[in-house]
Amino acid sequence: MPMDFCFDEFPDRYGTYSYKWDCNKLEFPQRPDATPMWVADMDFPCLPGIVKAITERAAHPIYGYSAMPAQGAELVKAWQKKRNDWDIDPAWVTYTNGVVTALSMAVRAFAAEGEGVILMSPVYYPFKNNIVHNHRALRDCPMQFDGERWVVNFALLEKLAAEPSTKLLLLCSPHNPLCRVFTREELLQIAEICLKHNVKIFSDEIHSDLIFQGHKHIPIASLSPEIADITITATAPSKTFNIAGLQMSAIITSNPELREQFTAALGFDCIASLFGVVGFMAAYGDPDAEKYVDQLTAYLWGNYEVLDRTLKASAPGIRVLRPEATYLMWLDCRALGMDDEAIERFFVEEAGIGIEMGNLFGDNGTGYVRMNIGCPRSVIESCAQRIAQAYHAHGFPTEF
Ligand SMILES: Cc1ncc(COP(=O)(O)O)c(C=O)c1O
Repeated sequence: MPMDFCFDEFPDRYGTYSYKWDCNKLEFPQRPDATPMWVADMDFPCLPGIVKAITERAAHPIYGYSAMPAQGAELVKAWQKKRNDWDIDPAWVTYTNGVVTALSMAVRAFAAEGEGVILMSPVYYPFKNNIVHNHRALRDCPMQFDGERWVVNFALLEKLAAEPSTKLLLLCSPHNPLCRVFTREELLQIAEICLKHNVKIFSDEIHSDLIFQGHKHIPIASLSPEIADITITATAPSKTFNIAGLQMSAIITSNPELREQFTAALGFDCIASLFGVVGFMAAYGDPDAEKYVDQLTAYLWGNYEVLDRTLKASAPGIRVLRPEATYLMWLDCRALGMDDEAIERFFVEEAGIGIEMGNLFGDNGTGYVRMNIGCPRSVIESCAQRIAQAYHAHGFPTEF
């Protein structure tokens, strides 16, 4: 009998080496008690099966170099089939200690210094950092807001891809922080441009399990063998099961040449983090894994609804973008008529909420805020209320 999961509890994370909680006061010294809604992990317990597997392995007193067993790739294959109806061969799977590591490897493997790498801003900031710090040329194809959702500027994408020195596209699918699940048509158009101009695709699909009703994640590599041939897909159980601290991700590449080039960028075979392996196997192998994901996604949607309803009613100058995926909400604060520093002061100092400013993700994120709603409903309710109270105390307009 599959179990039901409860996401209402609020475990105390202080003193657990949590980046989000233990470093909150360093991040927001002006308001050390701000509720942390910044780093992208959740305040929910992971699957009990993961805790059990880690506890059992921890009881063995030797924590030596470790490796993923062959069964790991079988679990990835089964997961991709179940969740995305994507047929992969276990031989396509390699591992890295985290998706950001894979991102950096891809940048170094597929573009030489000075060559161009495309991203679609505003986007998860390690995309830009990896391009710039590896001395590759940043080609930004800013996403555009069409009044309802953010869409790709295909004309610009084609122009950037056509530049002879452009070698790689970093795709964030689903998109963080824009909460977009790209449609089949959008993905096909992106892939066609890349195929035409000989640009490889690194598709970061770390958020692909947390998809809201009415949307369907499609791995871009699953669209055709030709597209798979130019694509490296990064997946992980980390966001899905709240085990990001275990740092273990599965990279899927059907083209053996690309796979070889990619792994060569690491310089040695991936030696896996021990508890990463244990958590990874336990997560994907748990008979209740899908149930957990489905219940979690429904709970997150409920959190979004509470936030959206409260702000619409009591702080209408802040608009929550209707999310298609992820627990990272994108708040449009432009109607408040303040610069980014003032917006940050409002959220952190006046409302007591530790958020990330949109401009961290790109210049076109100015006027926006990213808020992590991966926490119990009671926390969302009190944070939404605090925003509403601070909004009134500040004297913002109540009509728009
Ligand atoms: C789009 C995206 N990619 C990668 C990561 C981080 O991946 P990892 O912790 O596996 O390096 C995050 C974390 O927020 C993310 O949002």
